[in-house]
Amino acid sequence: MGVLVALVIYARRFFQPIDEIANFYNTFQSAVAALEKIAALLAETPAVRDPEVPTALPRARGQIDFEDAAFRYSATGPLVLKPVDLHIPAGQTVALVGRTGAGKSTIAKLIARFYDVTQGSVHLDGIDVRELTGEDLTRSVVMVTQEAYLFSGTVAENIELGRPGASRADIEAAADAIGAGEFIRALPEGFDTDVNKRGGRVSAGQRQLISFARAFLADPSVLILDEATSSLDIPSERQVQEGLTSLLGSRTAVIIAHRLSTVMIADRVLVVHDGRVVEDGSPEELIAAGGRFAALYRAWQLA
Ligand SMILES: Nc1ncnc2c1ncn2[C@@H]1O[C@H](COP(=O)(O)OP(=O)(O)O)[C@@H](O)[C@H]1O
Ligand SMILES: [Mg+2]
Repeated sequence: MGVLVALVIYARRFFQPIDEIANFYNTFQSAVAALEKIAALLAETPAVRDPEVPTALPRARGQIDFEDAAFRYSATGPLVLKPVDLHIPAGQTVALVGRTGAGKSTIAKLIARFYDVTQGSVHLDGIDVRELTGEDLTRSVVMVTQEAYLFSGTVAENIELGRPGASRADIEAAADAIGAGEFIRALPEGFDTDVNKRGGRVSAGQRQLISFARAFLADPSVLILDEATSSLDIPSERQVQEGLTSLLGSRTAVIIAHRLSTVMIADRVLVVHDGRVVEDGSPEELIAAGGRFAALYRAWQLA
């Protein structure tokens, strides 16, 4: 923006009337905002093709199955996911934990079919995801990543991205459902507050809640969440936790969890290490088993 401001100031010396420049500046700003949105969407556009004869899945229940599934990013690269059988029943909340580079995001991206497996298959409700149309899959599986928490624009516009064309009432209902309505209405311009405006005072926790409202509005059967690593203060953490619990509802959820509080609400924890699922059980079971998760749990408690 620094360059743009300099450009506008420079331009002002040469052009009249000022109005015109202000107009140009506004147009430019909305163009920048639009581009940012497009860029954020393109950044993770699946590099896969729609099937020629798709299997229709108008409303998924959310059962996910990996059958002997393995994956490498390039033909010469290593298998970043080694052959795995993984069955996630509809409605289960699964936390993926493990070191950076272990393969957590890769597992998440294979469910959303950002990539096709190198070997084996991934199924949604028993249907190979390669047999589904992109449309059916994007409606059923929504991925909330750290990078895509918020775009330029108002709070309402940010939530609306979950279901473009949604009514204002539906947008507000989604915010209320995940417990964000109150703080949003207390913002200077309520739902019409620009999320990036200086002094807009939208905290990290609140930004996450707004992105939760967007996902709630989208109402997917499968929710994939790459939880932010940034630490939140205790009140925000509690607020985000409550929002997350409402967002989860009865859907299937796969959460790349960085916070102990999130792991503990999961039905099941998968410890991913070097492209393999090395531990699989409820948080309590894994703590009792005394393996990697138990060590991580102790470290988290000390933090
Ligand atoms: N787009 C990519 N191209 C090539 N290698 C990648 C790509 N994304 C991730 N990897 C590699 O795959 C492995 C697993 O990465 P990732 O699934 O992102 O791990 P995690 O989410 O657990 O940190 C890492 O070695 C990483 O460097
Ligand atoms: Mg990751």
